[in-house]
Order: sequence, then structure tokens, then C-alpha cells
Amino acid sequence: MQKNIDPEVIKSVTQLRAALHRHSYRYYVLDDPEISDAEYDRMMQELIRMEANYPDLSSPDSPTLRVGAPPLDKFETVEHSIPMLSLDNGFSDADISEFDLRVKRGLDTDDAILYTAEPKLDGVAVELVYENGRLISASTRGDGFRGELITSNVRTIRSVPMVLETGKGRKNPSLIEVRGEVFIGKEGFKRLNDRRLDQNLPPFANPRNAAAGSLRQLDSRVTAERPLEVFFYGIGRIGDLDLESHGDTLQALKELGFRINPNIRSKITIEAAIDCYRDLSERRNLLPYDIDGMVIKVDSLRFQRILGATSRSPRWAIAYKFKAIQETTQIADIEVQVGRTGTLTPVAHLVPVKIGGVTVGRATLHNEDEIKRKDIKIGDTVLVQRAGDVIPEVVKVITSKRTGKERTFNMPLSCPVCDSSVIRSENEAALRCINTSCPAQVKERIKHFASKGAFDIDGLGEKLIEQLVDKDLLFSYADIFQLKEDMLKNLERMGSKSAGNIVREIEDSKRITLHRFIYALGIRHVGEHVAGILANALKSFDKLRCAKSDELVAIDGVGPVVAESIVEFFKKNENQKIVYDMMTSGVQIFQDNADKQDTLAGKIFVLTGTLETLTRSEAKRAIEEAGGKVSGSVSRNTDYLVAGASPGSKLKRAEELGVNIIDEETLKKLMTEGIHQAGIGGQE
Ligand code: IVH
Repeated sequence: MQKNIDPEVIKSVTQLRAALHRHSYRYYVLDDPEISDAEYDRMMQELIRMEANYPDLSSPDSPTLRVGAPPLDKFETVEHSIPMLSLDNGFSDADISEFDLRVKRGLDTDDAILYTAEPKLDGVAVELVYENGRLISASTRGDGFRGELITSNVRTIRSVPMVLETGKGRKNPSLIEVRGEVFIGKEGFKRLNDRRLDQNLPPFANPRNAAAGSLRQLDSRVTAERPLEVFFYGIGRIGDLDLESHGDTLQALKELGFRINPNIRSKITIEAAIDCYRDLSERRNLLPYDIDGMVIKVDSLRFQRILGATSRSPRWAIAYKFKAIQETTQIADIEVQVGRTGTLTPVAHLVPVKIGGVTVGRATLHNEDEIKRKDIKIGDTVLVQRAGDVIPEVVKVITSKRTGKERTFNMPLSCPVCDSSVIRSENEAALRCINTSCPAQVKERIKHFASKGAFDIDGLGEKLIEQLVDKDLLFSYADIFQLKEDMLKNLERMGSKSAGNIVREIEDSKRITLHRFIYALGIRHVGEHVAGILANALKSFDKLRCAKSDELVAIDGVGPVVAESIVEFFKKNENQKIVYDMMTSGVQIFQDNADKQDTLAGKIFVLTGTLETLTRSEAKRAIEEAGGKVSGSVSRNTDYLVAGASPGSKLKRAEELGVNIIDEETLKKLMTEGIHQAGIGGQE
């Protein structure tokens, strides 16, 4: 720094930088911010202003470089002082036991070996070099020996420390090379692709490609706009750090300010590592980022040195890969399905393929525009993905496998089930069959009516409903209440006993809360959430039935499209008749909370993570039945965030805003005792 600059200015700049480093560390690494985003931005603007006024004060570790540096013409390359090796893969418990045996043989011992188990991030490997506590360079893995220098790009990643932490009396190591995985989380990926679609840019195929593409930008200002994150998992050369185990390494890295994955288990036996794998593969969908397996590493660094490496990979580590969630297969045909509200959805019939242990024979193609965008033809070889509970979908066509025999698919000009006309409304990607009596629509409407969040009629499943409609025993959901035992008992897979049970189930379902009733009607755009809002605001079905559009729009959470759809629904004679039939069959709507106390009256809840005993929809229903509201995102109006295991970014947001964070047990306590009795304060 220059001598002729006012020492006060130098002091302010130094203090601002230190404060910004500390706050980004608290926010991005510890997930525990001390100041608001606005305050952080204000400090950053102040530093940018001062650095612009005093260019001599610029510094390679200034937090202002997080926004990117001037573009490069090309990337320089650098040699890794210790090669960045790859990992051997294992695919079964037997492969892992064999690995353990090889390790023991290599160490000439029968004693149990201790390991570390870490999630295997699916991103891009990088190496960062710090000298005297300052980030001086960063590179990609490249071919393992030489990588590309991407220092300016890596500086833009908020969770990368630019200067190291020197707490606990620790002095900065003279040199440390750290290795980790740069990635884009699931939420960041979605936002990034939504933004690209808005800008008419092609979306990225997956988070890994997005991360790789973002890191290899010559203009780091582009990188700065991408939601890149990092977890560190190892070291290259180290100066004066004294370490004995991999667990120690991770702990030391953590203390120096590096972000370490919270799901790492250290000093465990091979059996425990296999258990971890099982646990991780079950929780995989709940993690906010993609992982493709678990890395098992011998914990002792002395043992690691004895075992050494082959030219490709270390003998002390193995990647236990998850079963693929993507596979290639062929599209045998494309069928068009008609949904509850008449929407035509093209569905691919696939040559059956096992993906992640489940055989997949169908994949949704969403709509006509998606088929065109992905250029999907019948006979194409495609990459299919099954992630969690999501319906399998076609990721892309493997065009190199085309033979010329593929056939273009066109959406039908009339409904494939009832042959009525189909329409495509403005601003909608989907075609819809206009015939509300179309058997496909009738079946789907009845399935919806009997489903869990609606009348919840156990035993009245999909197959039975299809038979009943095909045999002209059901024309609308109101007819359900006219079903008699003798009408059911001669159907396929049905006897008098099950027929009797179903009739009893139907009878029991007749007493129903208002919001479930509204949801069951299957009005377009009225899902469980909106049904809850309507029930809460109107408190009576008659009010809903007679409401005018402007009365509905006046309800908080109801927009003009929803309002219009409700008015349209009740205008139709056939719907009026169905509602009348249900009432005369003895359906009784009771007002939500009528026999309960409104223990959560007016309070707004947000749910995140996995709860222990309740599913999301059960928790939502319970909160709403106690008079509370459930919102999808945290805001200043949120009263409580209910956080389960592996919470998402909502937790961070709630902490920032000072929202009360409670667990499932506390939620249950609030519901039974009420806010005040339970003594857990909401925001007033
Ligand atoms: S250790 C010599 N640990 O997997 C050991 N790698 O197939 C090398 N990876 O290039 C890596 N998560 O990009 C290690 N927890 C983890 C990892 C991990 C992801 C990646 C890394 C590496 C590749 C090897």
C-alpha cells in the first residue's frame, strides 16, 4: 500500500476487507450470518468506491474481486506439484469388502482399519494454492498433471476463502494446496436454467455441466453470476501443518475457513462405512446438491503413504458409486394421455430399462414444445433420468445413434380418447380436450376425488375406478355415493367382503372438511393450497359457489386466473348437478376447525427438510386444521420455520430474518397447547 495515502483511508480499507471476508465466511461457510444481506452489500459498495478512488490500494485478495476481473484471452496452464489422481470405483458391498482386504494385505495386518466416508460430489475438481494465508492461484484438475489456471473465476465463488482464518492462536501455514469439488446446487441450477430460458438461451443439461461451463469462462464476471459452491476434501503439498489422519486434515481445513461437507464420518470401520453408504443413498434426494456416490478413504496418513498409488488412483481410497439414475434406452412409441382437466400429455413408451434399481418403461415428454425443443422422435435412443419421486423424464436424444428410421411424432388433432376437438389456449404449452365428459377426464377426476388429500376413500383405487367408468357404473364423482355392494361384488378382483368394505369406506368419507371438499371438486388451478385459502377465507361452501370473480380476487392468495376458473366451474350446469347430487346423497361439509380450537390461528408456517413422523402434506394439513397457514417460502411475514432433517436454504433465510425455527415436536406442542401456552413466541 502507498505511503502518500491518508493512513485513515488505508485503515478503513483494511478493516472493510477484513469485515467482508469474515461476513462471507460466516454466511457461506458456517451458514451462520451475523449481518443482513443489505448491510453486507452496503459495505461492499463502500469498499468498491474506496478502491476506485485509490487504485493504488488494490489487492489480489480484496473481496471486491468476487464480482470478477477483466476477461482473459485464454487460460494459462500450470503443473500440479502432486498429481491429482482419479479414484477406483466400487459398485457393490462385495467390491468394498475386497477393497478392505486389499488395504489390509497392503499393510500386512489383520487388524480392523479405520476409514473416513464422504459424499462424492458430482462437480469439477479444483486445486487452490495459499501462501502465507492468501489465495494465490487456483486450477482445474486437467489431465491430472497439468490444469488450467482459473484463479479469477475461483475467487468469485463466495465460499472460497481469499484469506485464511487465524483463530485459536494458529498461525497461517506458509503453504497449503487444498483440493475440492466445485458444484452448483439443485436450487441454484433451477434458478440458473429458468433465467436462461427467460433469456432464450439453451438450458444446461445438468448441474455438473453448468458448473464446468461456469468455471471455464474467460470472463470471470460471467462466473460471478453463477451460483457456484465448493466443498473441500483433501490437500496437496502442505507447509508446516502437522497432521496424522485424514480426519485431522478435514478438521484443520475447517479451522482455516474451508467449507467441509457436513455429512462426513471419520474413523469408522468398513462395515460402518457400508452403513453410511446405505443411509446416504436413501437421503440423496434430500441433499441440496447432486452426489454420485460415497468416497471411502483410509484415515491414517501413515497408512496412506505405505499403500501409495497406481499411476491412475490411490490404493487407499475407493468411490462406492450409486446406482445410475440416468440410463440410455429407446423410445418404442409415444402415447398421448388425457388428464383430469383434459390436458393432453405425450408419454414415451420405453424399451424397459433399470435405473437406480427400478425398471422404467415410461417417461413423460411434458408437451409438444418440449418434444420439439429436445427434437425427440419415435425410435430414438435417449438418455432417461429418474430422480427421487419425480416421474422419469427424457433428458436428451443421443443423435449419434440415429439410423434414419426414426419417425417424427405429431400431437393428435382430436382427443385420442373421445375424438372431441382439442384446443391450445394462449400462453399455454398444453393442448386440451374440450369434452368434459371424455371418459379419460372422468376417470382422472374421480381418481382425484377419491385421493388422499381429497375424500381419501381407501380401496377405491385407480383400477377399480377405470372398471367402474368403463362399465357405465360411474359417470361423475357424485355417482360414487350411489354405489351399492351388489354393483361392486362382481367386478374383477372383488368379492362381497371387499365390496362391503368399500361401501363402508364411502359412507365414512361423507363427513368432510370444507377445504378437502373444495380440493376434491378438481377445479382447474385449485390445488390443496388454494383450497385451504378459500376455505379459510369464506368459511362456507355456499359462499364459494355463489362468489363473483372480484370477491374471490379480494382474497389474499387468490389471483384472477384462479377466480375466473372457480366462477366458470360453478356456472356449468353439469357441475351444479353434481354438487346437488352429492348433497342429496348425504355429503356433509363441516367447517374446518369447527370442533377444534384454532391453536395456530393466523400464524404462517414454512416447512423445510424431512420431518420425523409426518409427511409434508400431513404436516400442512395439521397446521391448516389448527387454523395456521403454510407458505412455500420464508419472508418477513413468516412466524415459524419447521425444520426437519437436511433442511434447505429456507433455514438460512429464516435465520437471516430472525424467524422462529422449531422442530416437529415443538410444532405438535404448539398445535395441542396453542402459541401462548406452549410459550414459544411468534412474531407479533
Ligand atoms: S478424493 C486421490 N473425495 O471424484 C483422491 N474426490 O473420481 C482423489 N470427488 O477427481 C479425490 N468428491 O473430482 C475425493 N469427497 C471426495 C470427492 C472426490 C468428489 C471427485 C473428484 C475426483 C473424482 C475422482
